[in-house]
Amino acid sequence: MPDFSALFSKNATNMKASTIRELLKLTQKPDIISFAGGLPAPDVFPVEDLRTAANIVFDTQATKALQYGTTEGDDGLREELVKFEMKQGVTLKKENLLVVSASQQALDIVAKLFLDPGDYVIAGRPTYLGALQAIQSYSARVLGIPFTDAQDGFDMDALERKYAEALAAGKKVKYIYVIPDFQNPAGFCWSLAKRKALLDFAYKTGLPIVEDSPYREIRFIGESIPSIYEIDQRGAARANVINLKTFSKILAPGTRMGWIMGDAALVAKCVVAKQAMDLCTNVFTQMWLAEYMRTGKLDSVIESTRAKYRLKRNLMVESLGKYMPKRADIRWTEPEGGLFLWITLPAFIDTDKLLLAAIEKKVAFVAGSGFYIDEPEHNAMRMNFSYSSHDQIEEGVRRLALVVEEAIAAHDKA
Ligand SMILES: Cc1ncc(COP(=O)(O)O)c(C=O)c1O
Repeated sequence: MPDFSALFSKNATNMKASTIRELLKLTQKPDIISFAGGLPAPDVFPVEDLRTAANIVFDTQATKALQYGTTEGDDGLREELVKFEMKQGVTLKKENLLVVSASQQALDIVAKLFLDPGDYVIAGRPTYLGALQAIQSYSARVLGIPFTDAQDGFDMDALERKYAEALAAGKKVKYIYVIPDFQNPAGFCWSLAKRKALLDFAYKTGLPIVEDSPYREIRFIGESIPSIYEIDQRGAARANVINLKTFSKILAPGTRMGWIMGDAALVAKCVVAKQAMDLCTNVFTQMWLAEYMRTGKLDSVIESTRAKYRLKRNLMVESLGKYMPKRADIRWTEPEGGLFLWITLPAFIDTDKLLLAAIEKKVAFVAGSGFYIDEPEHNAMRMNFSYSSHDQIEEGVRRLALVVEEAIAAHDKA
């Protein structure tokens, strides 16, 4: 095969295969209990109802489903999405909404729209790896902002300071990327005060906020907090927020279907950016999901997903309490929603190395370092609790605790 590497674009040269995704392949062996992926539990998929909806589309509108569609998205699905969002208190018109091939495409569209090589995006430390990959693929960088000790949002003083420093150094900051509801990887949830403060910062600086909300509906403890998108709508309505949503965690990720909500003019710009990517989102799937949404059953799927994940999250937290060595420098988050929790280990433990020992003991997690573009934290790990069975959660945490104990013993001996 000819070597084209000298011909690749600068952006392509900046695209890195994620080491995490490579490692995930290792963790997918059948005898390994893997807390590494971000997969929903397969038993939440409403297979029969989805089959019925697919059949209805084929029986009644097959040729439309097999034809090209508009870039904005199928009208039927957009109507259902408007209703879905309205139920949650979001006011929406169809022109505020673009259907996309799930949130990952939305992240790419936003990055394509705003980023020139060398530009900066403000994002949390840690943050979602796929967003970092999208940003890097446009040769842009991240201005990493730490979270508060209370884990209720950005440390706003650090944000102000880092932003001022970036401007003083002539850096161009283009947008703010946040996941306020049960963030991937750590499960943090932003308080209302922090959401408002970030919005004020966006108003003051004129920056857009890209609010990524795949886990918003998967709250299993406590009361929902309005999204930043909603707070803006109900308040100054200055439309600084672009909200990304997806069916991946509320229904099934294999649908690869999501939506962007934002100011109509910005959505129109996203439409143009998307056109060059795929002309339109898969038409059959859009009509299929619209048909499914018309049954009104999505709400009960979300409800039962929440109930299942609540039990699994509780079991993982309990198992950690039961098996992990008792030390002040071993901590974990106790998220009120989402799919992940985040464990911090003693500073002398490098979770990249620990992962190899864990795989030997047939348990896997994602090492925390992958969720930072620079100066990664090396002593943390992300644990997924949605996918494994109850037995696997308890046994996997037991195995993990043994690996941690061994690492501590080896350190103490050295
Ligand atoms: C924060 C965040 N954004 C976006 C995505 C991508 O989701 P989708 O399946 O909708 O592309 C994920 C997937 O795990 C995620 O955690």
